[in-house]
Amino acid sequence: MAKSETRYICQNCGFTSLRWLGKCPECEEWNTFVEEVIHTDSKKLTRASKNTEVKMANLTRLSEIDVQQDMRIVSGIEELDRVLGGGIVSGSVILVGGDPGIGKSTLMVQLADKIKDRKIIYVSGEESPKQIKLRCERLGFAGDEFYILPETDLEIIASVIDKVRPDVVIVDSIQTIYRTELESSPGSISQLRECTAQIINIAKAKSISFFLIGHITKEGMIAGPKVLEHMVDTVLQFEGEGTHAYRILRAVKNRFGSTNEIGVFEMTGAGLMEVRNPSEVFLSQRTDGNAGSTVSAAIEGTRPILIEVQALVSSSGYSVPQRTATGFDYRRLQILIAVLEKKIGLHLSKYDVFINIAGGIKIDEPSIDLAAAMSICSSFKDSAVESDMLILGELGLSGEIRTISFADRRIQEAAKLGFKKIVLPASNMKTFKQNGKLEYIPVETIQDAIRLIM
Ligand code: TYD
Ligand code: MG
Repeated sequence: MAKSETRYICQNCGFTSLRWLGKCPECEEWNTFVEEVIHTDSKKLTRASKNTEVKMANLTRLSEIDVQQDMRIVSGIEELDRVLGGGIVSGSVILVGGDPGIGKSTLMVQLADKIKDRKIIYVSGEESPKQIKLRCERLGFAGDEFYILPETDLEIIASVIDKVRPDVVIVDSIQTIYRTELESSPGSISQLRECTAQIINIAKAKSISFFLIGHITKEGMIAGPKVLEHMVDTVLQFEGEGTHAYRILRAVKNRFGSTNEIGVFEMTGAGLMEVRNPSEVFLSQRTDGNAGSTVSAAIEGTRPILIEVQALVSSSGYSVPQRTATGFDYRRLQILIAVLEKKIGLHLSKYDVFINIAGGIKIDEPSIDLAAAMSICSSFKDSAVESDMLILGELGLSGEIRTISFADRRIQEAAKLGFKKIVLPASNMKTFKQNGKLEYIPVETIQDAIRLIM
């Protein structure tokens, strides 16, 4: 007999409670509990014991497992392949998250275009086949083996997949898919969990790769993030500032590759274009001789990327001055300001300080600290930093400039783009082979560095 009862489930981590709670004891998120209907089926128990027998039959010796040669589908979109760790692993389940309108569906259609010799099913729960066709036309894509399935019932989807036997299935979006046995609404954590689990079974059993498109909740996470992240093989995040055309594809989790890789794209009238040399792009709008602008190099994955760190210091009209950071960690900005006050005597308490990484990219690395501090100082003094100067270094609380990693790679990238002077932590000087064409300026403290602009 099927018996149903309701439970309260945290939509963030899946924690289950008998009554509603304001704060989840597991993941400590607020307001995440939603009532869901749970079926307890006594038949399931007997089925479970049968399953154990089946599982025993699947016990395989390592040496007997046959690994096919052609395990990865290389799409030819280099920025995507790199983030995936060298192509799409067959039978893998990849979750693609991002804000609405960022270009997830566009990326998927462009991917389909690149691998059009494969059989692809595009499961659409959001757009009608006509809308998808329009997008495909706009992108100049008319694949022969590209099928559109406007369906959200997973059972039907599974039976279609069984018949058509595609190589790749794109599900747009996972939040619209549901299983009829579950009473909770599509997009709820039980539905997401159950549907994803079934999709993973299909993927592994039939060696079909799945792309699941997921929406991002207002907190900036894929709905039911923890639960889904653990289940799928790869989680990709597609991000970008709304007003910028640049989009960054980041691997948050990857069972088949590094998670540090990023892919850079530009959204154009003809779809997403790959950006092969992001440094040039991020520096393209820079004008020489501007106070408050410095260039630093961040490492994203295996690639060094040059970025412009802009600062604006202006006298404040408020009793509490404003501090705003775009693309830069807000707390680090506050620390930098405190160090500048204490060590340089820069009195910023009557000034608003804005900091921005140009181009809409977000950098989490501390190695751009010194560049940010020098930008702030440069704007405050209204004195420009030399335009062919690259600034590297992490700033410690007592004003010391700390060693950074991969200094040589960052410097090489800067040399390629014509930078001549390299400001870097003194402790880094011995860590790499010097290039005779460059002038190295080792600094030990923030005072050493600030002297360069005064
Ligand atoms: P879309 O892929 O629908 O975003 P998502 O699936 O993440 O919600 O893309 C949305 C935006 O991209 C939309 O505002 C229009 C724009 N766009 C272009 O600028 N150029 C193009 O070639 C295409 C197809 C879309
Ligand atoms: Mg979409």
